[in-house]
Formats: sequence, structure tokens, C-alpha cells
Amino acid sequence: MEIISLSINYKEYTSENELDAADRQLLKEAWTAADKAYAPYSRFKVGAAVKLVNEQIVTGNNQENAAYPSGLCAERTAVFAASSQFPGIPMETIAIVAHTDVFELEDTVTPCGACRQVLAEYENLSKKPLRVLLQSHSNRIYLIEGMHNLLPLTFKADGLKK
Ligand code: THU
Repeated sequence: MEIISLSINYKEYTSENELDAADRQLLKEAWTAADKAYAPYSRFKVGAAVKLVNEQIVTGNNQENAAYPSGLCAERTAVFAASSQFPGIPMETIAIVAHTDVFELEDTVTPCGACRQVLAEYENLSKKPLRVLLQSHSNRIYLIEGMHNLLPLTFKADGLKK
């Protein structure tokens, strides 16, 4: 028996000014998308903005439903829209932000497990590490470069082949 340890890495920034203009713009688009979320049940509004290698930006936000499990997270809304509008165009960066009027949300929101799985597959198709950029209201900023840092031991399509 052997215990295998994996390590993950991410970058933390203390100010938006440490980011380049393209990343700042992507975060801005994610905040705008969050404002448009349909989240009447949780009142937790999440926004995501995906930048493709062709420079296109596609946004999404969480869409809830009275039948709760029928709703969808912002991240999947955004990447599914990106893949349907620009099939096969690699994804470079996804910015994710959230706010709520219910309580003081200090920290960043990190993608749920199902969204991580979906992001990992698009990263795999893109053949380049997906950059995941998170920002909180209190201006805490994290940059995760590569989905292995969010979802180690990912289930991949090869797992479906004999
Ligand atoms: N949500 C997202 O859109 N993304 C996340 O990363 C976490 C959760 C949504 C789902 C639901 O509409 C609300 O936030 C509360 O869970």
C-alpha cells in the first residue's frame, strides 16, 4: 500500500490592479451577468463569463426553477452557451462571481462538483489549461490555472471505452 499525495495550486491577488485588462474586463462581464441571474428561490446570484481563444466572451448566470433540481448553475449555463454558439473553439478563461442580498458574502464562490466535471471536459477538448478566475465583493481574487487544481482524478471520456 502506498499513500499518494497530490498538490493543487492557485494564485491569490489582493487587488484587481494586479490583473491584466482582459481579466478585469472578464470579471466585469461576470458581475453584469450575475445581476441578471434568475434566482428567486435562493436569492444567490452567480455570474460567469467565458473567454474563448477567438476573443469572444459568452456569459451566463444561474437559472432557478420552482422544481429546484431543474435549475442550472451559472458556470454550466455559460459554457454550454459558449459551446453551442462556438462549437469546438477552445475556452481560455472563465470568470465566476456571486452576490446575495440575504447575507454578507465575504468569500469567492467556487464551482460546484457538477460544474467542475463539465469545465474539465471542455478543458480537455480545448487542449490547454482552463484559467478559472474568481472574485469576491471584498476584492479577494483567485486564479486557478488548470482544472486538475479543482478536480483531481477527473472522470474522462476514456473511462467509457473498453
Ligand atoms: N450556483 C451557481 O450558479 N454556481 C455555483 O458555483 C454554486 C451555486 C447557484 C445554484 C443555485 O441557483 C444557487 O447558486 C444556490 O445554490
